[in-house]
Amino acid sequence: MSTEGLLDEFVTAIESRLDAILPTESGHSQALVDGMRYAVLNGGKRLRGSLVCAATHTLSDSYENALDCACALECMHAYSLVHDDLPVMDDADTRRGQPSCHRVFGPAMATLIGDALQPFSFNVILDCEDIPREKRLEIAKVVSRAAGWHGMVGGQAWDIRLTKYSELRLEELRRLHAAKTGEFFVAAVDIGRIIGEENQDDQLAVGMRRFGTYLGEAFQVVDDVIDCSQPSDVTGKPIGQDERLGKQTFPVLLGIDQATAYAHELLGKALDELKQLGLTDSVLADVAKRCVERIN
Ligand code: IPE
Ligand code: IPE
Ligand code: MG
Ligand code: MG
Ligand code: MG
Repeated sequence: MSTEGLLDEFVTAIESRLDAILPTESGHSQALVDGMRYAVLNGGKRLRGSLVCAATHTLSDSYENALDCACALECMHAYSLVHDDLPVMDDADTRRGQPSCHRVFGPAMATLIGDALQPFSFNVILDCEDIPREKRLEIAKVVSRAAGWHGMVGGQAWDIRLTKYSELRLEELRRLHAAKTGEFFVAAVDIGRIIGEENQDDQLAVGMRRFGTYLGEAFQVVDDVIDCSQPSDVTGKPIGQDERLGKQTFPVLLGIDQATAYAHELLGKALDELKQLGLTDSVLADVAKRCVERIN
């Protein structure tokens, strides 16, 4: 099978596993479980989950044992989107081409839906019997670091403090992106490597983490470019929300053309890391291209 075909297979497998593991009945708070399913199953490119599968497949030639952890990371990501869209955050009415979670369930329930998805994600990792216990613990630690004060939430806290009047240098914006978005990409690659590697290899770990770092930054630069250049039916999100919110972004600092070129430069660096690891033809390269080649 072509590596592109394999990538599509990951997405399909992730979708069906998510559907299987998410709760359906609460017994007392049905809106909460309905909302968890809505937030996770309403589309999404599944890039982070695909990265987990791709890293495992690249190292071990199979990915089935990585599916639950791929789904766990997708649930953590979905929670971050539910909270990101709340009226007290980005106040976004649409997500993945549909009403955002709080528009359907209300802001209080949407907050709880996001809250519930976090421990759910850890349960899925810790219950995963296909993976040895020590590896499960290591993966839980990777996810908690990537999601917490040091990673995604830390980046979001930095992001909401900024206004268009903030003086932000490119280097600071890179660090902000690395925290709020990049950490999940690095975590995805780390998780896939932990599952797929037979023996610990520090050089491989460092190279793959660098690949994830470049890719995460490239992904957020593309997200920012798309935000100010593509219609809602392409993004599935409100048009021009960064401008409305006065966000500092790469297109604001560099202009759209230069920001686009920068995203491609970062993709090149990510692919160079794979080359150095002898993984140029792996499915990891296809995920990387899919993350960036949403703009030309
Ligand atoms: C959106 O991520 C949030 C950002 C970090 C920019 P995605 O564009 O990967 O969202 P889905 O999962 O495909 O909807
Ligand atoms: C949010 O970044 C990234 C998260 C940690 C959720 P954005 O605010 O740019 O994400 P979108 O554009 O709403 O998806
Ligand atoms: Mg935001
Ligand atoms: Mg947002
Ligand atoms: Mg955005």
